[in-house]
This record gives sequence, structure tokens and C-alpha cells, in this order.
Amino acid sequence: MKVYIVKDYHEMSKKAASIIAVQAAMDPDSVLGLATGSTPVGAYEYLRKWSEEGTLDFSGIRTVNLDEYKGIAKESDQSYYHFMRENLFDHINVKEENTYIPDGEKEDIDAVCRDYEALIRKLGGVDLQLLGIGRNGHIGFNEPSETFPGECHCVDLAESTIEANKRFFESAEDVPRQAYTMGIGTIMNAKKILLLASGEDKAEAMYQTMCGPITPRVPASVLRLHRDVTIIADEAAMAKAGTR
Ligand code: F6R
Repeated sequence: MKVYIVKDYHEMSKKAASIIAVQAAMDPDSVLGLATGSTPVGAYEYLRKWSEEGTLDFSGIRTVNLDEYKGIAKESDQSYYHFMRENLFDHINVKEENTYIPDGEKEDIDAVCRDYEALIRKLGGVDLQLLGIGRNGHIGFNEPSETFPGECHCVDLAESTIEANKRFFESAEDVPRQAYTMGIGTIMNAKKILLLASGEDKAEAMYQTMCGPITPRVPASVLRLHRDVTIIADEAAMAKAGTR
């Protein structure tokens, strides 16, 4: 596990974007596993900028997103489908047909999850998986639980996740209660993993992830068992883990 402690969100974003850019340059057909939320927005801004300047080419890149709310329309402002278009896809030369996100409009849980897992396999697996981390240590929408879920599945979102994500909605009542997510097994199958964390509200999760027991109560702790993980975290997020 490589750990880079950087000064702030800006430095984290630039370093993360550089790693993604190198991946795209070294392997122009890469499968990138992508995340939503506040954490990767700055990195996506750099990728857009470098792409607009002509330094980066995404024409052969395939992308698979970690997760999507269940029961949300694609065109809704809060869907991850919409988020990815607004923050990245509409501004780079990735081909729309090469971008994949679990279909939150579909109700058939088994079909959505089976098809998404099969799709990732068909693409040859994820080359570089980008992750944020929840305040409760979740990755994707794999919430703390008694076991590590293997494959793509549908989850009931934890109250703390609904609380954290209500900032994107009118109110907490509007946050969908369920989501489709890659499983821990799906994430662990990625060849490389890049975990980003910024801000003091992630400090406890980072401490538990890096220094606590490896347990499904802290889903991100499993990353310590992966052979190629890079963490980029700012000083605030490392305030507990970095000092012990
Ligand atoms: C998003 C995702 C989540 C977020 C996590 C952190 O696709 O899978 O695990 O990475 O909830 O969210 P932010 O970045 O908003 O703090």
C-alpha cells in the first residue's frame, strides 16, 4: 500500500488526476472504475482541463462506475448518471457507448447486478479503480455489515449515508433508500486501486481503515489485503491515522 499525505483537497485532486492520466496514457484501452461524490470532483476537473488542452485522450477508454441509486431516473439531477456527464463525460472525448453505470431505473435487482458483473468481466476487469470513502468507512455503497459482499448487489443505505448525501437533495426524505453497488469482491478484483480522502470528517474512517482490524464493519479496511493500492489523503483526513 502506497500512502501519499498531501496538504489539501487541491493537491489530492491534482495527484489523483495525474495517476489516472498516466494510466490512460500508458494503456489507452484501460477500463477505469469511477466514483461520484464530492471527493473526485477536483480530479475530474483536472482531467477535463488536460483533455481540453489536448494532453489527454480518452477515445479508447472504457469506464464503469461504482454505484447508482435505485429508483432514480437517469435524467434526474441527483443521479450518478447525470453527475458523471456533468463532471466528466460531457467534457472529454470518451465514447458514450463506452461508459457504464448500474441502471438505477431498473427494478429487477438480480438482472441489474448479474448484468453489471458480467459486463465488467466482459471488459476484462477494471484496470484502475478510483474510490472515495464514506464517514462510516464504506466504499462504493458497501455499508458496514457482518460480511464482505462479493459481487454487485442492491443495498439499503445506512442512515449516516443518507444524512451525508442529503446535501445533494432537497431534503433527507428525497434521498433514495437503496442503491446498486459493485461488491467488495468486484472492487478487490481491480488490478489497481486509488483511494482518495479529504477533510477531517474522514479522519476516523481513515484511522479505522489503516490502523484498525480488517473487518466488514469498516469495509475499506479490506483494501489492506489488495496488492496494489495507492491512498492519497490530505492532512485533515490523516489527522488520526497519520499520527499513530
Ligand atoms: C460514490 C461512492 C461513495 C463515495 C463516498 C464518499 O460513487 O461510491 O462511496 O465515494 O460516500 O462521498 P464523498 O466523496 O461525497 O465524501
